[in-house]
Amino acid sequence: MPVRHFLTLNDLRRDELDFVLRRASELKAMKHDGRGHESLRGKVLGMVFEKSSTRTRVSFEAGMAQLGGSAVFLSPRDSQLGRGEPVEDTARVLSRMLDIVMIRTFGHDKIERFAEYSRVPVINGLSDDHHPCQLLADIQTFLEHRGSLDGKTVAWIGDGNNMCNSWLEAAGIFGFQLNVGCPEGFEPSAGMVALSGGNGQVMRDPTEACRGAHLVVTDVWASMGQEEEQRQREQAFRDYQVTAAMMAEASDDAIFMHCLPAHRGEEVSADVIDGLQSVVWDEAENRLHAQKALMEFLLLGTGD
Ligand code: CP
Ligand code: NVA
Repeated sequence: MPVRHFLTLNDLRRDELDFVLRRASELKAMKHDGRGHESLRGKVLGMVFEKSSTRTRVSFEAGMAQLGGSAVFLSPRDSQLGRGEPVEDTARVLSRMLDIVMIRTFGHDKIERFAEYSRVPVINGLSDDHHPCQLLADIQTFLEHRGSLDGKTVAWIGDGNNMCNSWLEAAGIFGFQLNVGCPEGFEPSAGMVALSGGNGQVMRDPTEACRGAHLVVTDVWASMGQEEEQRQREQAFRDYQVTAAMMAEASDDAIFMHCLPAHRGEEVSADVIDGLQSVVWDEAENRLHAQKALMEFLLLGTGD
């Protein structure tokens, strides 16, 4: 069987994504009931982090341990990656030692090159262009709270960044309308909008983007690697904070998501993220369950 990677959501077919999401719910129930499940005993996950992380690192490391395997953490500071060893060489070496690799880096092409030279599955743990693992957790969270996304409306408010791109991709796969409310100059590229298969549209007015939405999502205004643009971005996005007034435009049963970390008073007001419509803690927890299901799928298949 050829090696499967998960660099963007479209690397899995719709039925495979549904399988992973169902399995994520099963693994969550097992974990909550205290039932251990060591399906990946003896397997070793390599985690390459060229950017900071709390949730991604801990969910992958804890998830692998819970499935009976173990994880190795690598950063450019203490590996040869930071001293210029070509990514192709690192991929060839690591994939002879490890069973599966997760990478968080800047340019998406680096993950693609790593995957091209890897003998084992490679997972994108966030690149400048995509964050597919977060989307697995987000879709799982919506399913738990509100059921299928089919025919629903999601409002993305803020930057046309990696998370926005993965939401556009999800809109094409799961069949929902995505209103991207973002200021001029910060919209997703036409190529990324095309990933939505006609289900995504860019709007300037964030309130209009929220109108009737079943889910409102936002993210930081300055992503990792854009720290020097923080001031300029605070100006550009000042009318794009998700507030209670914006949530009031959404559907009565709308929920709020944020991949975290969040900045209260910037992209979201404290009363929204800490309010009753917010599901951000379930969303964060689901990173664990969704990625355990993803690793099982990439290493063991569907069992058919
Ligand atoms: N949401 C997310 O990926 O969080 P971390 O940066 O903490 O991993
Ligand atoms: N867009 C953010 C997501 C962090 C999880 C970033 O890339 O920094």
